Amino acid sequence: MPHRIKVRSAEAGDAEAIHALLQPQADQRVILPRSLDDIFQHLQEFLVAEYDGRVAGAAALHVYTSTLAEIRSLVVDDSARHHGVGTLLVEGCEKWAAGLGISRLFALTYVTGFFLRQGYEEVSKETFPHKIWTVCVHCAKFADCDEVAVQKSLAEGPVKPMRLIPLIETEEK
Ligand SMILES: CC(C)(COP(=O)(O)OP(=O)(O)OC[C@H]1O[C@@H](n2cnc3c(N)ncnc32)[C@H](O)[C@@H]1OP(=O)(O)O)[C@@H](O)C(=O)NCCC(=O)NCCS
Repeated sequence: MPHRIKVRSAEAGDAEAIHALLQPQADQRVILPRSLDDIFQHLQEFLVAEYDGRVAGAAALHVYTSTLAEIRSLVVDDSARHHGVGTLLVEGCEKWAAGLGISRLFALTYVTGFFLRQGYEEVSKETFPHKIWTVCVHCAKFADCDEVAVQKSLAEGPVKPMRLIPLIETEEK
């Protein structure tokens, strides 16, 4: 039977599952660690991927400027890898960012090929504003960062923005 994959905004009830997904990768220093409190505080930045109905992946979109945002905390559970879940999470971040009017998305990563196959290009880390390093100072590898920076221009790509439906739309009485 084909597997069902759904990418959606995270809800408060997803925070523990997100934490459980991120922690093993943080322990291996593949991504930056995030406490459960930090996940709650930034819950609105997270997308989750359901694989056959269970949360099996997560990614966060962090906005820096009117044009620039980062894909962070991208993880797919071992048992759900190589089924396109990670690719759909990246695509979800791109649609979300485009809907917010962001034109450039980047990631700091060890899985360069995974991003290059999705239209990202490798760039020098020096091209980014200093404020992107504010979370990196907490990383053990800060002084000797071996992650690769990749970026994609959403303005030129075939990205269809996620439709941001008004929460409230009314006429003054
Ligand atoms: C990177 C990561 C998120 C990818 O997740 P994933 O769900 O396996 O991603 P996908 O399935 O979309 O793509 C992975 C590979 O499977 C292949 N694939 C996708 N669907 C497939 C399918 N149905 N059958 C076989 N292979 C498939 C893709 O071509 C891709 O190949 P590539 O890595 O050589 O580009 C995951 O490996 C992970 O959590 N890694 C550890 C954390 C990490 O490095 N995160 C990135 C931080 S920036």
